[in-house]
Amino acid sequence: MNPVRVGIVGLGRLGRRHAENLAWRTPGARLVAACSPVDEEREWARAHLPEPALHANYGALLADPSVDAVWLVTPTSLHAPQIVAALDAGKHVFCEKPLSLDLAECDRVIEAHARHAQLQVMIGFVRRFDASYRDAFERIRNGAIGRPFMVRSQTCDKNDPDGFFVRFARTSGGLFLDCSVHDIDLARWLLGNPRATRVFASGTIALHEGLRECGDIDNGVGVIEFEDGRLAVLYASRTMAHGHDTQTEIIGTAGALAVGRNPRVNRVEIADEHGMRNACTPTFFERFEDAFLSEAQAFVASLAHGTPTGLTLDDAREATRIGIAMREAYASGQPVKL
Ligand code: NAI
Repeated sequence: MNPVRVGIVGLGRLGRRHAENLAWRTPGARLVAACSPVDEEREWARAHLPEPALHANYGALLADPSVDAVWLVTPTSLHAPQIVAALDAGKHVFCEKPLSLDLAECDRVIEAHARHAQLQVMIGFVRRFDASYRDAFERIRNGAIGRPFMVRSQTCDKNDPDGFFVRFARTSGGLFLDCSVHDIDLARWLLGNPRATRVFASGTIALHEGLRECGDIDNGVGVIEFEDGRLAVLYASRTMAHGHDTQTEIIGTAGALAVGRNPRVNRVEIADEHGMRNACTPTFFERFEDAFLSEAQAFVASLAHGTPTGLTLDDAREATRIGIAMREAYASGQPVKL
């Protein structure tokens, strides 16, 4: 079978990781092109990737007939227009989360996909490809906890004193659309895709005052009510002292499941005069390294065999819809009906 020829777009914090996975660890994929407007990032690609064609501009990559699929790891504010342009150029698309910060833009992507239904588009909600979350999903589907009615989930990053998140806030959509959007997608997936009806949210700035300027926060909580009485309780933070701490609990009528309650980096336990402890995952990448690879492999396999991954643009639109409602509920101090 011919390999899927991929062009990666964006070689920043996460783009480089995707590029290395596609170049060296994804059967059925060939990384044939890479695009970044930044000279130093293209230099990195020249040094670390297997001789892809290098483009400073996205239009040039889209015009390259040897690219079957684009892999967008660009700032969130660019996702929707870049997906539409890729579809119009006849390319399949993988794009990092979230789909967009704006519902009208999500709809434009869905319309573009309808015009090019033979092409596949997937938004990277990476946790659906994590072995532990997938195991929890299968157990719930097999009835292990009865009827699941509550998800309690958090995405908490280690504090970064350099203020990366403050600079990032201008294009990320803020804490709820950047971080909680993962938990929103997880909650919908684990609860069987119920429709959200109402959202509450609150938040604070614990450390990063610079976020105030763009209306963002570094710690936020939210409650999502779904039709049929299901609930999600979410927490997101940029200021953890101990490391990246993503964990989720799913509570059902006959039991509960927990994923990642101890965010341990490995199985070593340290016993000394301070007690018993283990080291924590420093960033999202160490926690989800395997999941990013499984995600890439799953999408490439879906392109090669035409088997969808089950993660649709409607799921991605719904995550954005709920994330926007959380941001509005925080800003207004009022619940938002959906
Ligand atoms: P970053 O700022 O480190 O990288 C962005 C990249 O896009 C840079 O290489 C930049 O040169 C490139 N770029 C900017 N404008 C461009 C243009 N017009 N055409 C082509 N390339 C352009 O950002 P980071 O952290 O890598 O995030 C990228 C995306 O990945 C975001 O949407 C973010 O939400 C998502 N992300 C997802 C995570 C997950 O857990 N799934 C974790 C971290 C980020």
